[in-house]
Amino acid sequence: MRATSLLRLLLICFYLLSIHTFAAAGVGDKLEKGQNLTDGDTLVSAGGSFTLGFFSPGASTKRYLGIWFSVSNGTAVCWVANRDQPLVDKSGMLVLNDLGSLVLLDGSRRTVWSSDFSGGASAVVAQLLVSGNLVVHNGSSDASLWQSFDHPSDTLLPDMKLGKNRWTGAEWQLTSWRSADDPAPGDYRRTLETEGLPELVVWRGNVKTYRTGPWNGLYFNGVPEVSAYAGKYPLRATTSPWETTYGYTAAPGAPLTRVVVNHTGKAERWEWDASSWAWTRIFQGPRDPCDEYGRCGPFGLCDPEAASSGFYGCVEGFSFSSPPATTPPAQEVKGTTCRRHAALDCAGGTTTDGFAVVRGVKLPDTQNASVDMGVTLEECRARCFANCSCLAYAAADIRGGGDGSGCVMWTDAIVDLRLVDMGQNLYLRLSKSELDDHKKFPVLLVAIPLASIVIILLVVFAIWWRRKHTIIGAIPQSHAMVNYMQC
Ligand SMILES: *[C@@H]1O[C@H](CO)[C@@H](O)[C@H](O)[C@H]1NC(C)=O
Ligand SMILES: *[C@@H]1O[C@H](CO)[C@@H](O)[C@H](O)[C@H]1NC(C)=O
Ligand SMILES: *[C@@H]1O[C@H](CO)[C@@H](O)[C@H](O)[C@H]1NC(C)=O
Ligand SMILES: *[C@@H]1O[C@H](CO)[C@@H](O)[C@H](O)[C@H]1NC(C)=O
Ligand SMILES: *[C@@H]1O[C@H](CO)[C@@H](O)[C@H](O)[C@H]1NC(C)=O
Ligand SMILES: *[C@@H]1O[C@H](CO)[C@@H](O)[C@H](O)[C@H]1NC(C)=O
Repeated sequence: MRATSLLRLLLICFYLLSIHTFAAAGVGDKLEKGQNLTDGDTLVSAGGSFTLGFFSPGASTKRYLGIWFSVSNGTAVCWVANRDQPLVDKSGMLVLNDLGSLVLLDGSRRTVWSSDFSGGASAVVAQLLVSGNLVVHNGSSDASLWQSFDHPSDTLLPDMKLGKNRWTGAEWQLTSWRSADDPAPGDYRRTLETEGLPELVVWRGNVKTYRTGPWNGLYFNGVPEVSAYAGKYPLRATTSPWETTYGYTAAPGAPLTRVVVNHTGKAERWEWDASSWAWTRIFQGPRDPCDEYGRCGPFGLCDPEAASSGFYGCVEGFSFSSPPATTPPAQEVKGTTCRRHAALDCAGGTTTDGFAVVRGVKLPDTQNASVDMGVTLEECRARCFANCSCLAYAAADIRGGGDGSGCVMWTDAIVDLRLVDMGQNLYLRLSKSELDDHKKFPVLLVAIPLASIVIILLVVFAIWWRRKHTIIGAIPQSHAMVNYMQC
């Protein structure tokens, strides 16, 4: 116990000392026009959280220019300049050239990477800001002419953005490394879906592999566990005519944090734990088989508790066209589709359809859904009811509590639906007959007590009748016979 505390203290001292040494050696956070940064030199942000310099990842001997968290030298790289143009030796040099571009030169002074931007005469300094953002600016204002936050690698830091600038068309996304030793762009990307409601999507090539579920005003609907740390790292999604973006901030005093899309396609949030002097993973997605995109196919409903059925299921009113084997390969079941039991009845403005509630779900992919934040859920229902192409609807914003407000309407297949803790309700259009079937249960609830009362009354009547009959029974049979014949 004592030994570890001592070690920790030593590490902290070493860390503080190293920052001090950088400062003493005249290494600051700026590279001015005409100056150069060679392998072994670093820039350190004010306060010391971030370091920019040359490094070799993992077992690789190649050299890259990057920015990392100073506390975990080499293991938490958050930005890399020359991702797929590695330097083979330590002769690299970073320069802010006369044209106002940041350029990385190799040993024979060829450009291997540049900031693809020329700030001209106004670009006088490159500075590593407290946030970990490397900016080129004019020396008197931090306002950037170019910034590394506009060119994310695999890591989202506080104050960065994912999404789309609707004016310039610029898009911010994360791209995984190829492997733990190779920062070249890998197979996975993480983007913000900007059609429908904002939602984070992990892609492998052009195939979606994981969604967080749509933004519900507070968090992404399929990841309610972020509520546990949303106080430390407030999340925000912005939808305006200028941008659709997502980002987060760090509250004052919150531990260092980073969100990474890993080379295996996992989205992870890490937090620096100063007491154990290590990074702790506080979120990872996909979490379970049901997070696999579209696992149960259109109109499927994945149940993370239903391991015995391979987690496969369909929403109410649908069933598998051929029942899936107990644990079929995912591809196989993607071919077996959920089929609707009874056709919808909606045409020419009249319908007999109704809605079933699918409770507690991560809402389906909203890519092709239509969204209106300005209506109530009742108006949403009325709109969906009146429009024969509307197959389901749900609230778009849960901030007001209750059933929520706003309106998302799905007109094509319901894709990637799963059960999730603290999930939302999806209102699914079904044929009247399906909904009538559904009402058998309440009907029985009413019928059973009613039948019991009738039976009791009958018994009472029978007893009464029997008593009366015994008296009548005293009458000679022939008399009764005559009575009968008279009738
Ligand atoms: C890099 O900068 C140092 C001092 O700032 C200077 O002596 C050296 O000549 C520069 N190297 C190149 C290749 O410009
Ligand atoms: C920290 O980074 C520097 C510069 O890349 C490197 O020389 C040093 O070996 C690293 N230290 C550790 C402990 O990884
Ligand atoms: C630097 O840019 C800011 C705004 O971006 C401007 O107000 C300021 O005058 C500029 N300073 C110089 C020296 O160009
Ligand atoms: C990537 O994710 C896998 C699976 O969770 C994990 O084992 C691995 O440590 C992660 N790799 C990195 C570089 O974080
Ligand atoms: C949205 O529509 C496009 C084009 O028709 C289609 O390729 C895509 O699969 C649809 N997305 C969803 C989630 O249904
Ligand atoms: C029904 O909804 C679709 C999709 O939102 C829309 O394109 C269409 O105009 C709507 N039809 C009517 C009659 O409102």
